[in-house]
This record gives sequence, structure tokens and C-alpha cells, in this order.
Amino acid sequence: MQGNFSYYNPTKLYFGKNAIENLEAELLQYGKNILLVYGGGSIKKNGIYQEVCAILETLDKNVYEISGVMPNPTYDKLQEGCQLAKEKDVDFILAVGGGSVIDYAKGVANCTYCEDDAWTRYYENWEEVTNEVLPVGCILTMVGTGSEMNNCSVITNTEKAAKLGRIFDQRSYPKFTILDPTYTYTLPKYQMVAGIFDIMSHILEQYLSGNNDSTSDYLAEALMKSLIHSSLIAIEEPTNYEARSNIMWTATWALNNLIGSGKPQDWQAHGIGETIGAYTNATHGMTLSATALAYYHTQLPYAIDQYARFAKNVWNIEKETKEETALAGLEAMKQWMEQLGLVMHIEELGVTKDMLETIANQVSSNESAYLPLTPEIVMNILKESW
Ligand code: NZQ
Ligand code: ZN
Repeated sequence: MQGNFSYYNPTKLYFGKNAIENLEAELLQYGKNILLVYGGGSIKKNGIYQEVCAILETLDKNVYEISGVMPNPTYDKLQEGCQLAKEKDVDFILAVGGGSVIDYAKGVANCTYCEDDAWTRYYENWEEVTNEVLPVGCILTMVGTGSEMNNCSVITNTEKAAKLGRIFDQRSYPKFTILDPTYTYTLPKYQMVAGIFDIMSHILEQYLSGNNDSTSDYLAEALMKSLIHSSLIAIEEPTNYEARSNIMWTATWALNNLIGSGKPQDWQAHGIGETIGAYTNATHGMTLSATALAYYHTQLPYAIDQYARFAKNVWNIEKETKEETALAGLEAMKQWMEQLGLVMHIEELGVTKDMLETIANQVSSNESAYLPLTPEIVMNILKESW
């Protein structure tokens, strides 16, 4: 059954080689003051920065820059962006990078005109944003998060050791996103595979949840099959356009509200990953890969049917009993993860034994999950992921 839902997604996408050609027409619709946001410099090395600046020059825009947006962007850094956006009376924020840069841009968009402590109001308490929200446009260079077509922003508060995701209102969907798969060719393999597992995890958060036969689940299965197929090509041939373009398109649909429509969602696996991220600053996708198998093994006994469906429809496995089939599905996923070269142990991410209890106590649980988490369950997952 497909449950009730509302679906809205206004982000305009330009997909394919040379999609950057559309940037000019998009930017003409906005004012003169542009805040260009990017990360630690990869876009200067691969030439995307130069390409974007050439277009901005022809448009005669005033361009202000925030560079050095780090993976797992911090609230301190966010405030720097807000200050500049306000000071320069910015009309439009152009984010060039991965999920971190885009999440940051959305954060600046919402927090610049917030008069109180935006961390507490918007990230901790999810208060309604009543101030002006600046428009954001994106040029994606790292594939995984889906931030390019959603209204979520994940920010880390280092002082509070908290990494929190906020789903903002409709104004926070990017106005447009440029998706050129060739822009991802220069990604280090570590980042590429971390992004691939992030995509898988987003799909599983929406698929391994609920027990009804829904169209959403068939969509999820198709995305997972494409992802598995293309990922195995991409690790051998990083510049295979077919594979990279399929992965990019899968990532966008994995987290733009489509496949979770009309069914309960989990997100506990992300809760564990993000809490580990808050304490270690590890790469997001790897925090998920390192804990995934232990997590899904705790959930499986409570949803044998759905896990058996996963094994059958995604991994083409069927054993004599449902239980065996369900377990074999997770085993197949493990083998795929090992082929990709993902991090499979939290110890490799900088987690230390003295962090375990704090992490276990901080992870939140979801009552609609197959098995809502408790600190004890998280502790076991962490130990098994060691
Ligand atoms: O900073 P630069 O120098 O650009 O290098 C980046 C960064 O070190 C590099 N990179 C990006 N594009 C590149 C490239 N290197 C070479 N060539 C390119 N074309 O890759 C590194 C990682 O980038 P980052 O943006 O941090 O990765 P990702 O896209 O995985 O974003 C991770 C952040 O997104 C959040 C995560 O928690 C994390 O903070 N998430 C956001 C979500 C959302 N908005 O919906 C949902 C996700 O579950 C996730 O939580
Ligand atoms: Zn994620």
C-alpha cells in the first residue's frame, strides 16, 4: 500500500556534460551580489573554479567568496558566512562543491538574518524560520548526499560535540543544480566510495522500514540495482561516463523526498553515523559503512519479510527459508562493500574506546523503526563494528 503524502520539489536540474552552460541564464534572474561558496580548493585544481569565475565575470556580478568550507562544516564557519552575506548584502549564494558546501550554503541562507542564536533555534529546536531566506544555487562536484535537490542542512557544533541535520522549509531547496558527471572524475577513490555508500544508506533508511508492498519500495530497488551495477564499474574505471552519470542521478533521487513518500522511514543508521562524525570528524559515508552491518543485523529479526525481499529483489538471492534469504542479503551487501574498499571498522575512523558510551547515549531512536534504539543496543552495535 502506498500511504498518504504530499510531495513537492522545486529544484531545477541541469544534467550532463557541459551543463554549466546554463549557469549564466540562471544567475541573470538574481541580483548583483553573489556569495561564492566552496571547500578546501579541489575546484581550483580541477578547473571548475576558473570556469565558474569566467561566467561570473561576463555577468558583471560583484562576487564575494567564502572558501575553506570543511567536510562536516562547523557552526563557527557558518557564522563567518552569515556575517559576510549580511555585510555585502548578498542576493544569491552559489555553492560549488559536495554536500558539505551545499549544506553550508543552505545554513547561511537561513541563518544570516536570524537575530538570535541560530544554532539553538534552527538546528537544535527546529523552530520555524521567520526571517528572510537567501536563494541558493549549486554546482555539484561530489556525489552522495542528495543535498543538491533537498532542503536539508547538516552542521557540526564542535563546542557542543553535536552534528545535527535540519530540514528547512520550501525556500531552502536549491533554485537550480548543475550536475555534470565529469566534474566528479577527480574525486579521490576514498570519497567516491564513501559517497556511493551514503547513497545506499539513504535508500535503505527509506526501504528497510515499514512492511507494505509499495511503489516507493520498487523505486528504491531499481535505484539500488543501478547503484550496485555502476559502482563496480566506477571503481575499476573512474572516468567511465555511463557509470559516473548513473551514480550521480541515483544519488539525487535517493534523497529528494521521492522514495520515502508514503511510508515510515528509519534514519537510525544515520543517527549512529552522525554521532560518530560529531566526535571524530570522520567522512560521513564511512561512518555509515563501518556501522551498517551490525546495525542491520539488529533490525533484521524484526522485519524478516522486508529483509528477504531486499535479498531477493536487489541481490537476486533466494534460499530455502525466509530467514536464510534475509541473512544472505546482508552477506551479499557485505561482499559488495568489501569490493568497494569501504571502511568496515569504527576503530579506523578515530573512534576510541572511551568515546563509546558517550556516543551510545547520544544517538536518538526512532519509534517507527523496526527496533527503536536504546543506548544498550547502540553500544552493542559499536562493539560489533569495532
Ligand atoms: O573541500 P574540497 O577541497 O573541495 O575537497 C572535498 C572534500 O575534501 C572533496 N571533493 C569534492 N569534490 C571534489 C573533491 N575532490 C576532488 N574532486 C572533486 N570533484 O571531497 C571531500 C568531501 O566533500 P564533502 O562535501 O564533505 O562530501 P559529501 O558530499 O559527502 O558531504 C558530506 C556532508 O554532507 C552531510 C554529511 O553529514 C556531511 O557533513 N550530509 C548531508 C545530507 C543532506 N543535506 O541531505 C544528508 C547526508 O546524509 C549527510 O548527512
Ligand atoms: Zn547520508
